[in-house]
Formats: sequence, structure tokens, C-alpha cells
Amino acid sequence: MFEILSTKLIAPDIYEFDVHAPELAAKARAGQFLILRLHERGERIPLTFKDWDAEKGTVTIIFQALGKSTWELAKAKEGDAICDILGPLGMVPPVKNYGTAVVVAGGCGAAPAFPRARSLKEAGNHLISIVGARSENLLVCELEMSRISDELIITTDDGSKGAKGFPTTTLKEMLESGRKIDYVFTVGPPIMMKFVAETTRPFGIKTEASLNPIMVDGTGMCGACRVEVGGETKFACVDGLEFDAHETNFDLLIKRLETYKPQEKAALDRYEHSCKCGE
Ligand SMILES: Cc1cc2nc3c(=O)[nH]c(=O)nc-3n(C[C@H](O)[C@H](O)[C@H](O)COP(=O)(O)OP(=O)(O)OC[C@H]3O[C@@H](n4cnc5c(N)ncnc54)[C@H](O)[C@@H]3O)c2cc1C
Ligand code: FES
Repeated sequence: MFEILSTKLIAPDIYEFDVHAPELAAKARAGQFLILRLHERGERIPLTFKDWDAEKGTVTIIFQALGKSTWELAKAKEGDAICDILGPLGMVPPVKNYGTAVVVAGGCGAAPAFPRARSLKEAGNHLISIVGARSENLLVCELEMSRISDELIITTDDGSKGAKGFPTTTLKEMLESGRKIDYVFTVGPPIMMKFVAETTRPFGIKTEASLNPIMVDGTGMCGACRVEVGGETKFACVDGLEFDAHETNFDLLIKRLETYKPQEKAALDRYEHSCKCGE
């Protein structure tokens, strides 16, 4: 059992939890993830580490309550326990000093972007972070990103904070202005990552994306997380999470993420109904 030490609502439907998990905290590295089950009958929920503290034995996760399982998790209180956590999972991505590195994060993607951005900064890169959200109140990890970035650019779709538009608009403007950029890392909604890849492709800039296909076991056994990269099938849980964004088939990733929409909706409807019945 893993005790939930603190819970915080950091944006509408977006939660940050600190969880006591000493073994995970000792081994976690930037770019890795965990899979948790809240209780014995719970679904497996993959979440990327936002942070960890080996001394305190804690890991920090940020998640958006979207469907049945994440809403169930969102209702957990300080002092409650998570039944099991598997991890750290996924490859530890190599981090180099490329020169100038840009991290492009969208929505909840800013949480997994934070440790990756920090490792790029620690490796000596000049770090530019572009953090985007639909609106100001949905911005995540702005303070954390501002502390580690040489330059932080906020974008909102509705213009409520920072530059109005998508993070890719800012990235495109930066590249077209002749700014020398040596490396781009992106994490967030697959459609955003696709357009980040299309923005950097004509400039020939090495671009990597952290992929989030549906996962079940997280250990390379079930095949649920298969993605197509460079025409080959890869399993994101063991071969990734990070892949060459120019080689990634984002359309297939988006299509596969839609596979269980009717079942996901039905599960959420049943859950909401049962909650109301219990009131
Ligand atoms: C490696 C990885 C890291 C992730 N990190 C984060 C994170 O740090 N923060 C965060 O908010 N979300 C993260 N996600 C997404 C998160 O796992 C899903 O939002 C969650 O599983 C949804 O479950 P649900 O039952 O609440 O919603 P559902 O209604 O079941 O699904 C909502 C949407 O979530 C996705 N999803 C559903 N089940 C899974 C699954 N088993 N694996 C992956 N995606 C699924 C699908 O796109 C689906 O349409 C990550 C996903 C992966 C694969
Ligand atoms: S989640 Fe089963 S193979 Fe990756």
C-alpha cells in the first residue's frame, strides 16, 4: 500500500498528489512513468513522474480527471492508500548538451515536461520552454518551469495569458525569425506533438516526443501500446516513452487512442450514476 500524503487541485479537474513510495523515489528518472491501481478492482492508470524526492521517499504525480478511473483517483483524500504502483517504467532517455533546447508542452503535458526540461538544463543546454494551455486557469507547472528555464513563453488558445495561439505558433515564429535551435522535446496532446514535428521538420531540427498510447501491463507483454515509428512497430512502454517525432505516425496514435471511446463513456456514465445513487 502507498499512502497519499497530500492532494491538491491545481487547475479545474487537474490534481497533484504526493505519494509515499520510497523504492520508486530512489529509482525514478526523468522521462519514466508508473502504473497504479487505486484498489484491487481498479483499472491500471499510467502516469508520468512529475517529480520525486529520494530522501523523503515521495513521488509526485499530476493527473487530469477524465474518465472513471481518474475521477475515482481524484476523490482520494490525504491519508488514503493506493493499492499498488508498478515502476519506474520506460527507458531512461539520454540527455545531452545540444546547445539550445526547446521544450514544448501542452496542457497536462507540462507535468512530465518538467523533469525532462530540468535534466536538459542540468546537462548545460540553454533552455527555452513553451508551455501552452487552452486558457490561463488550465496552465500547469508554470512556476516550476519558470525556475529552471532560461526563457519561458506561455501561450493560451484564448489569449487570457501570454501569447494568443498554440505553442506551435510561437515555435514557428521563433524558427522563422532565424533563431538557432538545436533540439526540441515535446509532450502533450498527440495532435500538438504532430504539429510540433511538422513545424521543425523543414528546419531539420532533431525532435523527440513522449508518446502516450493506451497501456495495460506496461512491460512489453500485451501489445496495447504499439506505435509506428519509422515504419516499424514499437512498444511505447519498453521502447519509449520517447521517439523521433519526425518518424512517428501520429495519425495512427490518435486513431488508436479513440478505440475504446464508447466503453470509456459507458464506464464514466455508470460511475457517475452509482455515485449519485450512493448520495
Ligand atoms: C505513459 C503514459 C503516461 C501518462 N501520464 C499522464 C500524466 O502524467 N497525467 C495525466 O493526466 N495523464 C497521463 N496519461 C493518461 C492517463 O493514463 C489517462 O488519462 C487515464 O488512464 C484515463 O483513465 P480513465 O479511466 O480516467 O479515463 P477513460 O475514460 O478510460 O479514458 C480517457 C482517455 O484516456 C486515455 N486512456 C484511457 N485508458 C488508458 C490507458 N490504460 N493508458 C493510456 N491512456 C489511457 C484514452 O485516450 C482515453 O480516451 C498517461 C498515459 C500514458 C500512456
Ligand atoms: S502496455 Fe502492454 S506492451 Fe506496452
